Amino acid sequence: MRELEIAKSELQKKGYLDLPVDVRLDLFAEIERLKKEKNAIVLAHYYQEPDIQDVADYIGDSLGLSQQAAKTDADIIVFAGVHFMAETAKILSPQKKVLLPDLKAGCSLADSAPPELFRKFKEKHPDHLVISYINCSAGIKALSDIICTSSNAEKIIESVPKDQPIIFAPDRNLGGYLAKKTGREMLLWNGACMVHEIFSLEKITKLKIRHPKAKVIAHPECEAAILDIADYIGSTTALLNFSKKDDAKEYIVVTETGILHQMQKENPSKTFIPAPPNNACACNDCPHMKLNTLEKLYLCMEFEQPEITMNEQLRIAAKKPIERMLEISAQYGL
Ligand code: 13P
Ligand code: SF4
Repeated sequence: MRELEIAKSELQKKGYLDLPVDVRLDLFAEIERLKKEKNAIVLAHYYQEPDIQDVADYIGDSLGLSQQAAKTDADIIVFAGVHFMAETAKILSPQKKVLLPDLKAGCSLADSAPPELFRKFKEKHPDHLVISYINCSAGIKALSDIICTSSNAEKIIESVPKDQPIIFAPDRNLGGYLAKKTGREMLLWNGACMVHEIFSLEKITKLKIRHPKAKVIAHPECEAAILDIADYIGSTTALLNFSKKDDAKEYIVVTETGILHQMQKENPSKTFIPAPPNNACACNDCPHMKLNTLEKLYLCMEFEQPEITMNEQLRIAAKKPIERMLEISAQYGL
């Protein structure tokens, strides 16, 4: 008991309940038991480690995850992803308890747009409509008119009248890609994802020479030079779907490595090669996503902490542009 009190008192500092977990415990069975006992649902992003994906009730991209969070009738949403995702779930389902295995699971892209700086930027362009990528804090969402994800961004931009100037935040790579695709000039916030910026064009080009039949499939958070050589560009769900319906046998996958687990499961006879970063690190693993572990997931379900809590005024302000996104997505059947 004393151990639990100490772990709770250190929760804010450490980000998670630092308690020992018996190695003999079958965590898969324990998590299933807790789901039933507590009427909890586990939502996981494709960048989570394979064990977490295997125990999840739903695995998806940012759009799918927010749609699930909005419609679930579970009492507890356990979000195996990063902070902005769990926060979005809380914004949409305030009456539910939303748990995140490690509160420090942040996002470099979300961090690249501090709300106070963004507010000043927005004030300089009062005639602009703000479309923000869901990878941002509630503070940025509250300053936005519509939220988008990589699955629906094109449709969201096209839903805005052509003569309406747009600010796109916070990802300059996704923004640049969308500007090209839609032919819309947009004012871009200068943010980026540390994982998608690290891929090496040179190493991918060499890989392509060694695997001439391999298709390059990339996430639009990558830099333009990488997207220029890609055979297919899409959100994590779109990349996974492409790998299922396309007839190639080999793919160079230019996004976070977690997605390879589902690609390999869905296509056991195909080969998926993770695109290499530009140095010798494992930087194509998102250090934020990978803070979550099966042990932390189990502990947060057992003790119902760490929990996402929010200021109600901020939640209401951040909800409006997310609802707008969900409405537009529903109109397009996304
Ligand atoms: P999607 O899964 O929506 O494509 O987003 C990728 C990502 O970087 C999430 O952090
Ligand atoms: Fe953020 Fe990039 Fe990690 Fe996604 S992969 S959570 S955008 S840092």
